[in-house]
Amino acid sequence: MKEIIKVTLKTRKDDFSKCKADMLAVGLFSDAKTLDKPNKEIDKKLDGAINRLIKLGDFKAKEGTSAVVYGNGKLGAKRVLLIGLGEKKKATLDTVRKASANAAKESVQLKAQTLGLAIHTALAGRFDLAAIGRALAEGAYLGSYRYDEFITENEDGRAASLKIDVVDPDSAKVKKLNKGLADGVIIGEAQSYARTIANRPANIVNPVKIAAAAKELARNSKRLTCTVFDEKQMAAKGMGGVLAVGSGSQNKPRFIVLKYSPTGKVSRNVPTVALVGKAITFDSGGISIKPSANMDEMKLDKSGGIAVLGAMKALAQLAPPVNVYGIIPSAENMPSGSSYRPGDIITTFSGKTVEVQNTDAEGRMLLIDAIGYAVKQKCDVIIDIATLTGACVVALGKYMAGLMSNDDALTRQLQKASNDCGEKVWPMPSGDEYAEEMKSKIADLKNIGSRWGGACTAAAFLRQFVDDKKWAHLDIAGVWSFDKPSKYTAEGASAFGVRLLTTYVVNLTKKK
Ligand code: BES
Ligand code: MN
Ligand code: ZN
Repeated sequence: MKEIIKVTLKTRKDDFSKCKADMLAVGLFSDAKTLDKPNKEIDKKLDGAINRLIKLGDFKAKEGTSAVVYGNGKLGAKRVLLIGLGEKKKATLDTVRKASANAAKESVQLKAQTLGLAIHTALAGRFDLAAIGRALAEGAYLGSYRYDEFITENEDGRAASLKIDVVDPDSAKVKKLNKGLADGVIIGEAQSYARTIANRPANIVNPVKIAAAAKELARNSKRLTCTVFDEKQMAAKGMGGVLAVGSGSQNKPRFIVLKYSPTGKVSRNVPTVALVGKAITFDSGGISIKPSANMDEMKLDKSGGIAVLGAMKALAQLAPPVNVYGIIPSAENMPSGSSYRPGDIITTFSGKTVEVQNTDAEGRMLLIDAIGYAVKQKCDVIIDIATLTGACVVALGKYMAGLMSNDDALTRQLQKASNDCGEKVWPMPSGDEYAEEMKSKIADLKNIGSRWGGACTAAAFLRQFVDDKKWAHLDIAGVWSFDKPSKYTAEGASAFGVRLLTTYVVNLTKKK
């Protein structure tokens, strides 16, 4: 199988016009009257080609646009890629991330193997250079990624690698950029790693394979340990939720626990964090079977668990002084003679009983065992991430994840992390009104509510299992994938959450 593109990023002290590369990317604002320093320098060598292009109106520098200008031998680079940054006052770090993604994607498309990135003077003035470095690196991974490991006919192929140099003539600037770049590389790599596993279909990835991936992460890191419970061990522990969901499939369920322990001391006021991710390798709905249209997409129902896997990989390398559990309950939800059924009453890890009214509401069934396990490990903060409800997609569309929580400070921390990393979240309720709908007449709870507010009732159900812990829930059903390719990235799994969860944990001990 083909490996995904190998991206390397470095900083380089160099003049913009001298930078040797297949492609040199520069940013332009749509409302700028004149060219900034890098653009001016390059334009001069190109005998005014950039200005001519702008004058003709062929490139307006709107966000998400680009134009290629070809070199003339006077420039170090073979091509110059103009990247639209949109309006100057609207620019954020996400503008930087997307610009880098745009440049990387274009480079892969044109089979350029070396890419220089020049930072617009205005951006370098407005944002912390380390943060810019990180955003550039994250964007480069986002943009260069394609899921093509099963494509054997390679007419529209791509190069095996892309070497990126962030270029600036100022060595002090380069040094600061470099600080953030290294973190961005770790996070970007983890995101691409997660996208590939998430993209793999259910005949390739099953719960045992996810467990193997987690074990491999632990093998490669001194700071990670991995424990996996099989069906028998889960039965002994009373994990009735995971077992019920997995009971219909030939592919047996697994309960995966990754533990990250920093080498240094952890401050007393820093919480132990549990990241809990739903990993359903295929969600057919089970006996409450789904309609067949687009059912193939349900191979992505493992995305929450894979986001946790990716975040744990990144955290092991970033090494923040925080104790973190990555808990991934994994199963395949299939209909068969051994499946759990509507009407069944399941005793879960916590001891609470649940009446199953719909086997397609399976995510919550396995998450509650994992949340219960996190409570038992005395984690102070529990954040679960799951492709949990179609209702969340109806509510928020494909742009942001639903965020439910029992703690306002935790909500704010996650909103801050979201702002830092560009993965968007929106707060939604999960309180008593919704919990009321989840009461059963014959068990402690039932697994579905009424027709309305499905994302909120699902969250309210999970909330019954968090004990006195701080808890947040991310419903990523809408953001699990990109439906079509954009200027920033290819279609397919997004690995939403790798950046958000990693950033949340890293921010816990970051000096303000
Ligand atoms: N994995 C689905 C949720 C989902 C739907 C994710 C669409 C991405 C896109 C989940 O297991 C599910 O089937 N939820 C049901 C819950 C219902 C039975 C209460 C749903 O949303 O329809
Ligand atoms: Mn389902
Ligand atoms: Zn599901």
